[in-house]
Amino acid sequence: PPIIAAKTPAKVTLKKGETYNWCSCGRSSNQPFCDGSHRGTEFTPLQFETEEDGDAFLCQCKRTANAPYCDG
Ligand code: FES
Repeated sequence: PPIIAAKTPAKVTLKKGETYNWCSCGRSSNQPFCDGSHRGTEFTPLQFETEEDGDAFLCQCKRTANAPYCDG
């Protein structure tokens, strides 16, 4: 299973048109984004874009059913 990086979501400001890589393994030290630390594990980052500019809450416990977003 993925590592729990934190038990609270990370509030980030996202820009439309940019591509982001959400860390699914929990090992990145640049949470909630991938820093390549998943290498050698079964995990790969989730690449995503946002529909509009604005703040979002990204999952850091890595248990969300709505990745990369926190589902509470
Ligand atoms: Fe976690 Fe890349 S470091 S998915």
